[in-house]
Amino acid sequence: MRISFPGKLLLSGAVVLLFLAPVTMRAQQVAATPPMGWNSWNHFHQNVDDAIVRAQADAMVTSGMRDAGYVYINIDDTWEGERDAQGVIHSNSKFPDMKALADYVHSKGLKIGIYSSPGAKTCAGFEGSLNHEEQDAQTYANWGFDYLKYDLCSYLGVMKNAATPEQAHQMMVDAYNKMRDAIKKTGRPMVYSFCEYGIDAVWQWAPASGANLWRTTGDISDRYDRMESIGFSQAGLSKYAGPGHWNDPDMLEVGNGGMKPDEYRVHMSLWAILAAPLLSGNDLSTMSPETIAILTNRDVVAVDQDPAGKQGDRVWAEGPMEIWSKRMADGSQVVGMFNRHSGPMTFSADFKMLGFKGKVKVRDLWAGKDLGTMEGAYKATLPGHSVILLRVWRQ
Ligand code: GLA
Repeated sequence: MRISFPGKLLLSGAVVLLFLAPVTMRAQQVAATPPMGWNSWNHFHQNVDDAIVRAQADAMVTSGMRDAGYVYINIDDTWEGERDAQGVIHSNSKFPDMKALADYVHSKGLKIGIYSSPGAKTCAGFEGSLNHEEQDAQTYANWGFDYLKYDLCSYLGVMKNAATPEQAHQMMVDAYNKMRDAIKKTGRPMVYSFCEYGIDAVWQWAPASGANLWRTTGDISDRYDRMESIGFSQAGLSKYAGPGHWNDPDMLEVGNGGMKPDEYRVHMSLWAILAAPLLSGNDLSTMSPETIAILTNRDVVAVDQDPAGKQGDRVWAEGPMEIWSKRMADGSQVVGMFNRHSGPMTFSADFKMLGFKGKVKVRDLWAGKDLGTMEGAYKATLPGHSVILLRVWRQ
């Protein structure tokens, strides 16, 4: 008996540890790889409502996107209603019951995200969280939300009152810290997404302020020139990203109709090499098979979601021809050959320049084909605004 008593204690200790460990691990695992999902803004803007969000959740499952790794269904700006006498925020008439909506999204095996601003007003002029941070975070937690995009917007106006740029910067950091602490206080794990357009080199301070991702630029649009100027401007930021904290060059436009399929493949390839969040911004309920194929290409998604979490970077450029590469957990490298010119260009990726000695094994990720063993360089003629995405292993 004497022996069994401490044994029982030990056992119960072990059981407690067993129960605690997954909770702690889960908390640490928020955004271990770049968040994948859908966001309402790029396609629906202020027209998003409850029915649209449910339809997106349905389509994320039926299209195969959920099985490809997409998880979050994120409601962007324009859901906000009035505050009641206690200051508690309510959704507006487009969203009659946020808790029921969150339950519906969860029932599909997905997670759900919401949007607010540290300012008094959001970018679309709706109610922001200024002076209601704890209340709002608790409301999101009560509703069952898993993700918050926090968009600077009108808080920029508050920062204008600062005496110096340093003071303005500190006000911004304090505002993001305040919501970080408010989320933490709820006890509910939430992905925390900073949207402040990259000002004050956000990548340098955002991780310490609790960011899981931070926008590095202004807004994307469904035009090739805007997408490419954002995407290729990310050179040099790779060292700031890693598991739990990611550079965010904004949401995807794939499938919205303003770019050619080759251009959308450039968009998707670059975002995957950048280990960027993959938040589709199209209408999932009306996707063409080609759009689904681009968004769910397993080889390409695996580049983005590689467990090592190493963001890729530019390794070579000559005028409009660029080569970017990303080191993968298994020691292979992903190599993107990009032609930014509007007409065809011929160039080659030199395996030695990429750090390989001798023979390599190559797979073309968009063609879905193993190209076998090679040596020296991979030479290709690329049509205008197109990409060849290779994964290269030492032989
Ligand atoms: C800003 C953000 C966008 C979107 C809108 C909503 O412009 O950068 O991503 O959230 O606000 O009003």
